[in-house]
Amino acid sequence: MKLLQRKLNIITLMHSDLVPPESIEGLKEKDIQPWKMEYDVQATLQNMGHHVHPVGIYSDLGIVTDALDRVKPDIVFNMLEEFDGQVLFDQHVVSFLELKRARYTGCNPRGLTLAHDKALSKKILAYHRIPVPAFAVFPPGRKVKRPPKLAFPLLVKSLIDEGSVGISRASVVSDDVAMMERVELIHRQTNNPAIAEQYIPGREIYVSVVGNERLQTSNPWELVLEHLPEGAPNIATSRLKWDYAHQTKMGMTTRPAELDPDQRRNLDQLSKRIYRALHLSGYARLDFRMSTEGRFYLLEANPNPCLSLGEDFAEAMESAGMGYAALLDRILRLGLSYRGVA
Ligand SMILES: Nc1ncnc2c1ncn2[C@@H]1O[C@H](COP(=O)(O)OP(=O)(O)O)[C@@H](O)[C@H]1O
Ligand SMILES: [Mg+2]
Repeated sequence: MKLLQRKLNIITLMHSDLVPPESIEGLKEKDIQPWKMEYDVQATLQNMGHHVHPVGIYSDLGIVTDALDRVKPDIVFNMLEEFDGQVLFDQHVVSFLELKRARYTGCNPRGLTLAHDKALSKKILAYHRIPVPAFAVFPPGRKVKRPPKLAFPLLVKSLIDEGSVGISRASVVSDDVAMMERVELIHRQTNNPAIAEQYIPGREIYVSVVGNERLQTSNPWELVLEHLPEGAPNIATSRLKWDYAHQTKMGMTTRPAELDPDQRRNLDQLSKRIYRALHLSGYARLDFRMSTEGRFYLLEANPNPCLSLGEDFAEAMESAGMGYAALLDRILRLGLSYRGVA
């Protein structure tokens, strides 16, 4: 694939704590880890010949305004995942970029709003007859009462937080007392509502999608735990996501999912329908469970997922024939051509 010939003036926008250094020489893996995505994106864009201006923000939009005035970028490469410590505020920053008439990479504000709320997104998908787990939402400070139709086992998690915050094996509950305890734990840990979802036993499968109108999907990717203790649920707990020693102990690998051609086609079409139904744009990773009967249930859509080299999203696209520079190039083009809903 031919990359963009034109060299762009790019602002890379990120959390102020995650602005990477120019070089990683002499640094250890654990030092690099927190800002690895920011570094990989920045270094690759520079290697592609673009002019990159890193901008870190926490809660001051003035920094963005100043940078837009000073740099006059062709595009903002958006890697923000929160603003002022609030995960839902990232959509407002993208809205602000739209108000400033700046082009940006990744998802539009409407898609971010719909996808970040794990209940709202499921309500929309249910309208489109896309399989999702049944669920109930419990906001902090209200009585926790399970709707009688919502049957155990359930998995309790945060309605809006990412990265498996508050998810451990004990998150899969089989009675009201255990459910209540996990709901309270989520409230304490996150200050956000909890969602209790029908637990879907089966395989854990991710699909990467890139595009605005014409969509490209990756090979389905599977999380496999080869040494899971007998009877333990095969879920992506927070420990599994963040603790390397635990990953090794559990025999964790992520790899292309072996699916028969019909299942593969079905999942591919489903992924595109979900992406469109949630008004996503740019790129996203969709997290599914494949039930023991072979039915795919969407757990959540992740617009603007982690773009680190070697992480699931980039790996899955690579195995679909799109290398890292080509992927970033595609993301830039999609941002440049996105015209929004207005
Ligand atoms: N309804 C469910 N049934 C089975 N497993 C679930 C369910 N909800 C979440 N999980 C497990 O918890 C993990 C994290 O949940 P997810 O909704 O993807 O939140 P996060 O934003 O933290 O990734 C999933 O990857 C899956 O392993
Ligand atoms: Mg997830």
